[in-house]
Formats: sequence, structure tokens, C-alpha cells
Amino acid sequence: MKTLKTQVCIIGSGPSGLLLSQLLANAGIDTVVLDRKDRAYIEGRIRAGVLEQGTVKALEEAGVAERLHREGLAHDGFELAFDGDRHRIDIKALTGKTVTVYGQTEVTKDLFEKRIAEAQRFFFNVSEVAPYDLKSDQPCVRFRHENEDWTISCDYIAGCDGFHGVSRNAIPSEVLRTFERVYPFGWLGILVDKPPVSPELIYANHERGFALASMRSETRSRYYVQCDLRDDPADWPDERFYEEFARRLGPDVARTLETGPSFEKSIAPLRSFVAEPMRYGNLFLAGDAAHIVPPTGAKGLNLALADIRILARALIAHYRDGIDAHIDAYSETVLRRVWKVERFSWQLSLLMHQFPENSPFEKRMQRAEFDHLQSSETASRAVAENYVGLPLE
Ligand code: FAD
Ligand code: DHB
Repeated sequence: MKTLKTQVCIIGSGPSGLLLSQLLANAGIDTVVLDRKDRAYIEGRIRAGVLEQGTVKALEEAGVAERLHREGLAHDGFELAFDGDRHRIDIKALTGKTVTVYGQTEVTKDLFEKRIAEAQRFFFNVSEVAPYDLKSDQPCVRFRHENEDWTISCDYIAGCDGFHGVSRNAIPSEVLRTFERVYPFGWLGILVDKPPVSPELIYANHERGFALASMRSETRSRYYVQCDLRDDPADWPDERFYEEFARRLGPDVARTLETGPSFEKSIAPLRSFVAEPMRYGNLFLAGDAAHIVPPTGAKGLNLALADIRILARALIAHYRDGIDAHIDAYSETVLRRVWKVERFSWQLSLLMHQFPENSPFEKRMQRAEFDHLQSSETASRAVAENYVGLPLE
């Protein structure tokens, strides 16, 4: 058995774990980071694409925003489309803030590059990861790495291991409460090296289902359609995808659609999920390990990194100033914001999708909500305020 000591052991090397290790390193706090996958796999995972201003600020503070500022696209607004009618939410005019289009793959690459340059201690391809002694002042994480058993002892464990990780379930079942809603459809997404169909994102609710026109750059588009959960990406050759996507966005938008061979095609299920509490003893949960939002509204990555900003501040206050109040308040502080973001993502998902179980009444409710957004600046501002990111308390 090999052993190692550190201040904070971080389980998971996705965006949450990486940003935490960077923010703590900047404050002189020692961390070890474990992941069951390797760097190339993590960097290649195609996921989020839209960053809130607060997320960009956190990446700036971490010292990893140079390429983001060079290559990211600032967006002042986005569009909602409903049965052919379009409504632009001018987020800049309504909130004074913007969002930035920059892929999660790129955020991860930038963070990895800096962590590796600064000689961060990583263990990749680990298995049998088990956090234990969580209530003691020296909690441990056990795992296997390259046919050897390891134990890391530390002051704190950060569970940043995503929805399918082990950290959440290390909290005793009599303490852990979970809340969940699973949606009866998925999102089929493609990436294609063609300019985006529109300069801003368009979220569309059409009688045939939801569609989203997004992008990664001025030459790379990311498009989604709502699909059946039983579908397989192979059921969706590119021709079928583009035909459906164009119909749902409507003829005005479809006219400018440039099609080409997709180089990524996958189906993501939609889920709302929250685990409480987000701290147990000296284990903290952060990011997808504790909560999932449906992707409508682009909140998942931003919410994960907001947790990390709050957690990093709390740990820095402990190590630098000897103040534990922020650590003690972590779960409560973070969950208050998490629930607000859950509410927004849920509400926007309800508005923008075709639900098989919806009666004509619910369809009229969707239409009325869209009409209200179109006619009320106050209603649009509420959407904009959530889209650009709620403040950290
Ligand atoms: P993850 O990225 O899941 O990272 C967890 C890490 O832990 C992984 O590297 C994993 O390998 C590792 N791990 C798991 N189990 C273990 C274990 N037992 N031991 C060690 N390591 C382990 N969010 C947005 O904000 N905007 C968007 O536009 C957006 N679009 C999305 C589109 C799609 C199709 C999907 C699927 C998600 C989208 N999201 C979006 C959500 C966003 O991708 C996630 O919220 C984000 O990845 C969360 O980061 P994380 O680091 O908390 O978790
Ligand atoms: C993307 C994903 C989202 O969920 C969203 O709301 C906006 C953009 C994307 O992958 O580009």
C-alpha cells in the first residue's frame, strides 16, 4: 500500500476538479487530483458551450482565460422561437452583461495545460475509489492505480466526480436526500464544420419538438433536436437530422442553413437532480456530483463552476485566515443558488419542449408564457438575468 498526504484531495478531473485545484494552487494550497479516465478522454468530452460572465471572471482569476478572450465569442442576446414566431432576449440591454461561447473542451484543455505546467499531482485511470473516515480530521481516499493500492490522507476531500461518481454515495443514506425529475425525451446533438445558421443562439419550440442552433466558433456549429429516448444516433443520418432541424427552426432560418458531414453525434438524456446536503464531515460535493440540470439554458457547467468558486473561497478562508464560517455555511449557501438555477432550467425546459403527456391546456400555457415574454420587458429581463448568471451571494 502506497500512501501520500495532501491538504485537499480532489476526486474528479472534469472542469470542477480542475478549476478547484487551480484556485487552491494559486493560494498556495496543496492538492492531489484523481480521475478514472485520462487527460485525452476528458479533454475530448463534447459538452457545454456557453459561459456566464461570472464563469469567465473565475477563469480569469484562475489565470486561464487568455485563449478564451482571444477565441471566445461574446453574445449580447439569444432568440426564442415558438411555432414560427421569434423573440430576441437582448441580454446586454436587459442586464448589462453578456455570455461567451467557448466550448467546455477548450476550458478543460486550458486548465489542464496550466495544471500540468505547474506540476499538479494527478492520478489518471484510477479504479476502486473510496473516500472514508469523512468525519475524522484526517479523512482518506483509497484507490487503485497501475496495479497498486494507494491511500491519500488529507484535511478535506472535494467530490468533483460528476453524476456517476462515488463521492455522493459516500454520504450515509440516512443523511443524503435526493430530488429528481427525469424528462421523457433526449437531445440529439451534432457538431459540424460549417458557419452557424444564425449569429446568435436560437432555442425553438415547434410542434414536432425542440431544436437549438448553437455554435463553437464562427466556423463550427453545434445543433440539437429533441428526440425519443429510445433513439440511437444511428437512426439519425445527417440528412434526416438537417431536415428535421430545418423544419423546427422554420423557413426563415433554414434558408441560411449550411449542411455538411457531422463529426460528432450523440444523445443526451435530460434530468433535474439535486442532492442535499453538499457537505458531510470533511467531504464537500461540487458540480454534477451534487446536481444536474436539463441543458436548456446552458447552466450545468456554469453552476458547477459557481460551486467551485464558493468552495475555493471557503477553503482559502480556512487555510489563510483560520476562518471556518464559510466552510460551515458551504452546503446551505451553495444549495440556495443551486435551487434557483434548477428552477430556471426546469422552467425553460417546460416552455421549450413538446411533452408527450401535455394536454391542449398545457400547450396553451406554453403559448401564453411565450406571448408574455414577447410583450413584457419585465418577463424577458427575468429570463435574461438567469441566462447571464445569478450573482454569488
Ligand atoms: P464532469 O464533467 O462530469 O467531471 C467529473 C469527472 O469525474 C470526470 O472526469 C469523470 O471521469 C470523473 N470521475 C467519475 N467517477 C469517478 C470516480 N469514481 N473516481 C475518480 N474520478 C471519477 N453546461 C453548461 O453550462 N452549458 C451548456 O451549454 C451545457 N451543455 C451540455 C450539453 C451536453 C450534451 C451535456 C451532456 C452537458 C452539458 N452541460 C452544459 C453540462 C456540463 O457539461 C456539466 O455540468 C459539467 O461537465 C460538470 O462538470 P463537473 O466537473 O462537475 O463534472
Ligand atoms: C449549448 C448547449 C446548451 O444546453 C445550451 O443551452 C446552449 C448551448 C451548446 O452545446 O452549445
